[in-house]
Amino acid sequence: MRDNKKRIIIAIDGYSSSGKSSMARALARSIGYRYIDSGAMYRAVTLYAMRHDMINPDGSVNVGVLTDALPSINIDFNVDGDCQSTMLNGENVEKEIRQLPVSNNVSSVAAIPAVRHHLVAMQQDFGRLRGVVMDGRDIGTTVFPDAELKIFVNAPAETRAQRRVNELLEKGETVTYEEVLANVQNRDHIDETRAESPLRRATDAIDFDNSDMTIDEQNRALLSLFNKTVS
Ligand code: DC
Repeated sequence: MRDNKKRIIIAIDGYSSSGKSSMARALARSIGYRYIDSGAMYRAVTLYAMRHDMINPDGSVNVGVLTDALPSINIDFNVDGDCQSTMLNGENVEKEIRQLPVSNNVSSVAAIPAVRHHLVAMQQDFGRLRGVVMDGRDIGTTVFPDAELKIFVNAPAETRAQRRVNELLEKGETVTYEEVLANVQNRDHIDETRAESPLRRATDAIDFDNSDMTIDEQNRALLSLFNKTVS
């Protein structure tokens, strides 16, 4: 029956570690849409820049060299059952892009206008056929201002940092709450204050504070918003 309904674009924006990626992935799976993690794309470009010595010891980025390299950076997603991996020029970089060295550099790379233009064009292409759930910072404002359903996820920085610590510890990484909180706050600041497409709630987005919600409650609430939108 769902096949008869029109396929829409769902934009899920919000602060880092707000849980939006898990929510977006779960929603996409339950409604049979494609899930695109736009943050993973910025992370993959960051990894490319790190590997090619385009990031200086002081954290600044060699913008000209990275800009010239953009046409040779291809990013895609490989889906295998419930598992989705980010592919950088055909290599599975899913694990590496989630680690702290990439997290520490990604905001500087994501602030570069040429990088954003390149990735926004790729993201718009992923949404060409609609039927996509995409999460990020500027999906409802810049990538798909015409998305039929826009969600803005929020939760306090401390809650988000604790969630991230739990995730990283589960993956066997050694991190402290303090360093992760500092990383989350720093990324919030850079995301909100960058000149190009800063993190902003679209005026027609639905606010979604998930601090006191279980994963199940979040998924149900999101599914219900989807059903209301397409019915
Ligand atoms: O969602 P995330 O933490 O994986 O995102 C990684 C970084 O990429 C984050 O610092 C913000 C940036 N980003 C962005 O600027 N625009 C997006 N649409 C998605 C992510």
